[in-house]
Amino acid sequence: MTFAGKNIVLGVTGSIAAYKAVEIASRLKKAGASIHVIMTREAKEFVTELTFREITGCPVASNMWDKVHAYNVEHIALAKLADLVLVAPATANVIAKLACGIADDMLTATLLATRAPIVVAPAMNTNMYENRITQRNLTELKSRGIQVIEPASGQLACGTSGKGRLPEPHEIIAALEGLICAGMPLAGTRILVTAGGTIEPLDPVRYLGNRSTGRMGYAIAAEAVRRGAAVTLISGPSVLPEPAGVSRTMVETAREMHDAVLAAYNDVDVVIKAAAVADYRPKTAAKNKIKKQDGEITLVLTRNPDILLELGEKKQHQILVGFAAETQNIERYAREKLQKKNLDFLVANDVSEKGAGFGVETNHVKLFSADGSVQEYPLMQKQELAGIILDHIAACLEA
Ligand code: PMT
Repeated sequence: MTFAGKNIVLGVTGSIAAYKAVEIASRLKKAGASIHVIMTREAKEFVTELTFREITGCPVASNMWDKVHAYNVEHIALAKLADLVLVAPATANVIAKLACGIADDMLTATLLATRAPIVVAPAMNTNMYENRITQRNLTELKSRGIQVIEPASGQLACGTSGKGRLPEPHEIIAALEGLICAGMPLAGTRILVTAGGTIEPLDPVRYLGNRSTGRMGYAIAAEAVRRGAAVTLISGPSVLPEPAGVSRTMVETAREMHDAVLAAYNDVDVVIKAAAVADYRPKTAAKNKIKKQDGEITLVLTRNPDILLELGEKKQHQILVGFAAETQNIERYAREKLQKKNLDFLVANDVSEKGAGFGVETNHVKLFSADGSVQEYPLMQKQELAGIILDHIAACLEA
C-alpha cells in the first residue's frame, strides 16, 4: 500500500545478485509503484533489459548516448520523477562513485542529480565489503542521508562465506516501506472507508438503491493511502476502479456491508462511513421476477441495521467519522447523528445543492466535531475535501 502511485527508480549494477532485482521490481510494481529501471553496462551481463521492460511495463534506461530516449534528458528526467531511488544490488564500484560524486553513466548521473531519497543495498564479496575503502565510502553515503541496507551473511557466489549477500527481495521491500512511511502523517494508521450505495433486491431483476457513485469514499480511500495509511475500502456497487494500494471488498446489500464492516472493526483505528446505506429493504425478495399486473402493488419495507450506530455503541479506541446526506435542517440533524451514533466527526452535505453530494466530483460540507465546533468549507473537489477530513483525523490521533 505504501508504494501506491510512487515513482521508484531502480538502479541495477553488475552483480550476480542482479537477478534478485527482477523480483524486487515485480513486487514493487504489484504494490502499485511505477518502476523505472536504470541498468549499468555491467548489469546487462547478468540480466537483460527485456526482462525489466516486461516486468515493469516501462522503458529501461541505460546508455546516456542512445539516440532515442523515452524520457527528455533522461538522467535529469528520472532524477526529477523519482520519489525514491533504490540501487540494488549496489556494487563496490557504484558505491565508490556515488561517494565521490562521479557521474559517468546514466545511473550515477541520476544519483547525483536527484533530490529524492536514495537507498543502496550493497552486494559483493566479503573482502571487498569489509575493505576500509568500501567502509569509508558507505560511511560517507550515510553521512549524506543515503540509506544503506546492510548486506546479509552467508554463502557467496564467489565461493566464500561471509557478509556481502544482497538481502532477500521481501527484506528490501520492508526496509523501503519503513523509509517511505517515515514522516507520513498517517503512517501506521489502519483506516476503514465505506463508499457507494447499497442495493436491496426486490426480485432477481430489480432492486432499491440510491444515487451514490462511491466518488466521495473512493477519494478518501485514495488520499489516505497517499498519506501512508493502510486502507480497507468496503464498497457498494460502483464503476470506479479500485484505488491503487487499497484493499477493496465489494458488497451489495446493507446487511453484507454490516457484516464486512463489523468483521474488520476491531483491527482498525479509524472508520469513515461515506457510504449511503439503505435504511430499509424489501421485506421479502421474490425468487422469480415479479410479473406486471394491473393496478398498484404494495411493497413492504423492513429496517436495515444501522451500521454506524452499532459501531458507535461498540467503540473502543476507534475514531468514527460519519457522513450525513440531508436536504433540510442540516445543522440539527447533523448534531443529532453525531451524538446518537457516538461519532468523533460528522461531515454533513446538503445533497439538494448543485455541485454537492451524489455523483458529482465536488462537495460542499460542514464538518461537525464531537467537541461542539463546526467548520463550513467552500465548494471543492472531493479529493481536496478528503484531505481536510484526514487532517482532522491526523490531529485527533496526535492529541
Ligand atoms: O458516492 P457519491 O456519489 O460521491 O456521493 C457521496 C455521498 C452523498 C453518498 C456522501 O457524501 C454521503 O453523504 N454519504 C452518507 C450518506 C448517508 O447514508 O447519509 P445518512 O444521513 O443516511 O447516514 C448517516 C451515516 O450513517 C452515514 O455515515 C451512513 O454511512 C451511516 N449509515 C446510515 C444508515 C445505515 N443503515 N447504516 C449506516 O451506517
